[in-house]
Amino acid sequence: MTAHAPRQPLPTDLPADARLPRHIAIVMDGNGRWAQRRGRPRTFGHRAGAKTVRLCVRVCLEQHIEALTLFAFSSENWKRPQEEVGALMKLFLRSLDREVDELHEYGVRLRFIGERSTLAVPIRQRMDAAERRTAANTALTLTIAISYGGRWDIAQACRTLAQCVADGKLDPIAIDEAAVARHMALADLPAPDLFIRTGGDHRISNFLLWQSAYTELWFTDALWPDFDRAELSRALADFTARERRFGLTGAQVDAPSQGACA
Ligand code: IPE
Ligand code: IPE
Ligand code: MG
Repeated sequence: MTAHAPRQPLPTDLPADARLPRHIAIVMDGNGRWAQRRGRPRTFGHRAGAKTVRLCVRVCLEQHIEALTLFAFSSENWKRPQEEVGALMKLFLRSLDREVDELHEYGVRLRFIGERSTLAVPIRQRMDAAERRTAANTALTLTIAISYGGRWDIAQACRTLAQCVADGKLDPIAIDEAAVARHMALADLPAPDLFIRTGGDHRISNFLLWQSAYTELWFTDALWPDFDRAELSRALADFTARERRFGLTGAQVDAPSQGACA
């Protein structure tokens, strides 16, 4: 596959002009249970999940989806047993070493969101290097959320705005939704259109709280290592059949030229 190769057909009966999401956000859940069902340690499941990441990147590239944001490690996941946290960090470091060349070749712009100061220096260095190296790529923006929490994100945006006020550069009266949005992670991307969570639980678990205000939610019982092309195609097909109203009435959405002021 090369950057900007022609859009591939999906294994569904979606029409060629179907409106696919511009931005997909995924909570990659269920690795631990996947491994435990096989009598293996939870970390075996985390390793098995790496191939599903590659598959999702491939499908997004094939479908010309602009942005894919993956929840890899939450602010709360630090509270897991030290052994599991250590194994996850090792896996993350190894994945950075192994995958960045190919992602770069495919034209993927790699980004990371989350509290970096909590991560080990070698990991931070590789993250910085990968971001710098892939910064000019345009085929897909792949964001990995690591040490990320939606509440952390809102708090860091508030802190930045408060600092601007303290420095005399911002009038508090100017702090509106747009000003907060400018300081949230992913501010330069369209809001996620489709949120997918594997693993059977129906919750957001502190993922993109601010950015998901009007995101379409889609859940599957499939555990992350079992999530495959057919499941992803189902999520996309389901998305294309939804009516997104953003607070308007169905009639307004059907007749967009009249708009909200008709
Ligand atoms: C998701 O899988 C990966 C991380 C949260 C790091 P889990 O490790 O949460 O797997 P389950 O949900 O316990 O099966
Ligand atoms: C959400 O999964 C975080 C990631 C997938 C990185 P969790 O397994 O941590 O979520 P909860 O604890 O079931 O809500
Ligand atoms: Mg879980």
